[in-house]
Amino acid sequence: MLSVSNLSVQFGKRILFDEVNTTFNNGNCYGIIGANGAGKSTFLNIIAGKQEPNSRSCTLRIW
Ligand SMILES: Nc1ncnc2c1ncn2[C@@H]1O[C@H](COP(=O)(O)OP(=O)(O)OP(=O)(O)O)[C@@H](O)[C@H]1O
Ligand SMILES: [Mg+2]
Repeated sequence: MLSVSNLSVQFGKRILFDEVNTTFNNGNCYGIIGANGAGKSTFLNIIAGKQEPNSRSCTLRIW
């Protein structure tokens, strides 16, 4: 399971994520959809640990 708590990301004044909370459960298959520039790659980079979120209280839990 992967849980994301309080994820916020913005570039300048452009807010991509504002305190997002979500959970991905084992055994399920997920798709991430959104318009060009919505933040799909940014989201995946953050949960992969390749990019830092803006919110200091953001937590990722994997178990
Ligand atoms: N390092 C960065 N500095 C400034 N803006 C950025 C940076 N990385 C991404 N952005 C901006 O954040 C927004 C989201 O980008 P991202 O690449 O995550 O979108 P995406 O949903 O994957 O788009 P696509 O469908 O084109 O792949 C875009 O407006 C992009 O220009
Ligand atoms: Mg992308």
